[in-house]
Amino acid sequence: MEIVDLRSDTVTLPTESMRQAMAVAELGDDVFEEDPTVNALEKKAADIFGKEKALLVPSGTMANLVSVLTHCDRGTEVILGDKAHTYMYEAGGIAAFGGVQPRTLNNHDDGTIDLDEIKGAIRPDNVHFPKTQLIGLENSHNVCYGAPISKDYIDAVAKIANENGLPIHIDGARIFNAAVALGTTVKSLTENVDSVSFCMSKGLSCPVGSVICSSAQFIAKARRLRKGLGGGMRQAGIFAVSGLVALDEMVDRLKDDHANARRLAEGISEIEGLSVDLNHVKTNIVYAELTDDNKNLDEVVTAMGDRGVQFFAVGPARIRMVANRGVEGDGIEKAIKEFSSYFSSA
Ligand SMILES: Cc1ncc(COP(=O)(O)O)c(C=O)c1O
Repeated sequence: MEIVDLRSDTVTLPTESMRQAMAVAELGDDVFEEDPTVNALEKKAADIFGKEKALLVPSGTMANLVSVLTHCDRGTEVILGDKAHTYMYEAGGIAAFGGVQPRTLNNHDDGTIDLDEIKGAIRPDNVHFPKTQLIGLENSHNVCYGAPISKDYIDAVAKIANENGLPIHIDGARIFNAAVALGTTVKSLTENVDSVSFCMSKGLSCPVGSVICSSAQFIAKARRLRKGLGGGMRQAGIFAVSGLVALDEMVDRLKDDHANARRLAEGISEIEGLSVDLNHVKTNIVYAELTDDNKNLDEVVTAMGDRGVQFFAVGPARIRMVANRGVEGDGIEKAIKEFSSYFSSA
């Protein structure tokens, strides 16, 4: 049976050209900063983002953890959206390993946070308060329907941050999706932020890896933290090379994932028993609500899985589907057909 795996874009497998590049990648010890392929990836990423330096880390979670710990001292506070991945899905790492407390503010459906709320959440200098040391944004915003966040909004937050002597970190796990959707560059989106991380292993299809881009001073401190957290890798060029391939070959095709997500959302919006707000679908992520009271969400997930269509339940009545390179046009049509047949059955 053909499996249509819409659980995440992390399920994408490396491309043939990534595998070929892996076979001949020049390698060295990256903890000694001697892996030429890692060095080339870090240089390329820093150039693309217009930052001085970059650092390869094993995962998006470690990229955020290292970045927050580089910006913040123990006992301080980071302002985050209440639907931020770093707050919701990273095992409380910033608090557990960094002693950094999240100060969460409401994320609107478009992934933004009210600017006045950000201003109001910055702590005044008072012995009772934790110091605010960072503002964190996410782009595209996973839980907020994959929303791409505009440069104008990021720059408005950067202005507030500057006025208060605070840095900004962007969790850009899917920032290339945001840039493609907005018709701009990641460099422009992150021009006024201090650090940004992106994932190689989501829509870009690499098997593993994330990269943090920032100033030389920040990256030097982050490198030491990466080592302390056990993220120093030796011949990491074996997979870093896939990042080099991805940055050349995989960014433009993200628009195909976005088109597939839209097609999927449009198809599902016709089905009685499910509802999708098409206005929310701007990148590769589709959220749908179960509106059929006679159906149980876990049963829907299981029954659709039995029909070869996989996705996650992410709330009492909500499912998430992520278009990705492993699901081409036919797969999307199959998913729509199976949803339609399942929901029209008793
Ligand atoms: C927005 C966002 N940030 C960070 C991560 C963490 O990435 P990883 O799973 O590589 O740790 C994810 C993963 O889905 C994500 O969606």
